Amino acid sequence: MAEVNVSLPAGRYTIHIAPGGLGRLGALVRGLALGDRALVVSDATVAALYGGRAVDALRQAGINADLAVVPPGEDSKALAVAETLYTKAIACGLDRRSPVIAVGGGVVGDLAGFVAATYLRGVPFIQVPTTLLAQVDSSVGGKVAVNHPAGKNLIGAFYQPRLVVADPGCLATLPARELASGLAEVVKHGIIADAAFFAYLEGNSAAILAREPGSLAEIVRRSCEIKAAVVEQDEKESGLRMILNFGHTIGHAIEAATGFARYSHGEAVAVGMHGAARLSSLLGRCGPDTVAAIRALSARFGLPTAAPGCRPEDLLAYLARDKKSIGGAVNWVLTGGIGRAVVTADVPEEAVRQVLDEITR
Ligand SMILES: NC(=O)c1ccc[n+]([C@@H]2O[C@H](COP(=O)([O-])OP(=O)(O)OC[C@H]3O[C@@H](n4cnc5c(N)ncnc54)[C@H](O)[C@@H]3O)[C@@H](O)[C@H]2O)c1
Ligand SMILES: [Zn+2]
Repeated sequence: MAEVNVSLPAGRYTIHIAPGGLGRLGALVRGLALGDRALVVSDATVAALYGGRAVDALRQAGINADLAVVPPGEDSKALAVAETLYTKAIACGLDRRSPVIAVGGGVVGDLAGFVAATYLRGVPFIQVPTTLLAQVDSSVGGKVAVNHPAGKNLIGAFYQPRLVVADPGCLATLPARELASGLAEVVKHGIIADAAFFAYLEGNSAAILAREPGSLAEIVRRSCEIKAAVVEQDEKESGLRMILNFGHTIGHAIEAATGFARYSHGEAVAVGMHGAARLSSLLGRCGPDTVAAIRALSARFGLPTAAPGCRPEDLLAYLARDKKSIGGAVNWVLTGGIGRAVVTADVPEEAVRQVLDEITR
């Protein structure tokens, strides 16, 4: 079992990464010496696949676990759904020492984390991420939230888990498009922080796509290390953490311009990473070899590098509205070559227009 330790002012916790880790959930939770009641939160799809195993593992360790199931999908990240979970927590007699345990993807993690952060002013939170995106991204960093009709993640908190158990075995049942979506964030971690990891992805793409447990465990481990190192230096997103947004400036614009329907998050980010790489090359920050390498790896993982049909004007309008924009200038995360991220607001609009033209052709 690989372990990644995360140290923050708010506390320390360990991410356990191991095929079969779900079966050891009870023992790992027991080790935290929390209360003997727990609420497991899952969505209907994940509950049918892994809910029983999670609850059984907890009960075998003497923890009286109840399962709360929400509908799958982004719509469950809502205050109304959180309220049903508070009601369930009260009915089950959860007290301040009782953990809320998220078993699912980023939707369940963000929702259950928000409930854990607010129920009784905060109870222990445990994450059992079951999508690749959740294992490499959303379960690390402590951002929890629900959506508001006016926008995504508008109501939330920074709330760190006490424990994360990532079982790459759970990824066997993940739809291929969800796997690819998570791989976009994995590729991103290589680009912003680690050329050797990027090379590992290039050399092991077949094993990763075949979901060989050892290679999945390795990409989850290294991704968690990279994201944790960034978050440790900037827990509340005041500066460095921005490099995790590589590919996300254009990516968010593409998601918004297509009504969050045509592209998965990772697909939009993959197009955005190609755009950011092209922009970096146009501005002399990296060579064409970097652009070609990013493009080839994305394609290998079944990710798009263009969004034909999107209108550059629409994307520009969304870029201007990007929440990371300060004083009208977008803070761009560029690459100075594989393994290096550069944050700058000094990007001429002509260059942005040229790249948006290219990626929408
Ligand atoms: N907190 C953060 O830092 C952070 C970071 C990135 C994304 N997010 C959030 O994460 C959410 C997206 O997460 P996601 O991509 O995991 O989506 P998701 O939670 O909706 O999961 C995707 C789909 O896969 C299914 N699924 C999950 N695990 C499965 C498995 N092992 N086998 C089969 N099916 C499975 C789910 O039922 C769902 O239908 C968004 O709401 C986003 O805002 C949060
Ligand atoms: Zn992302």
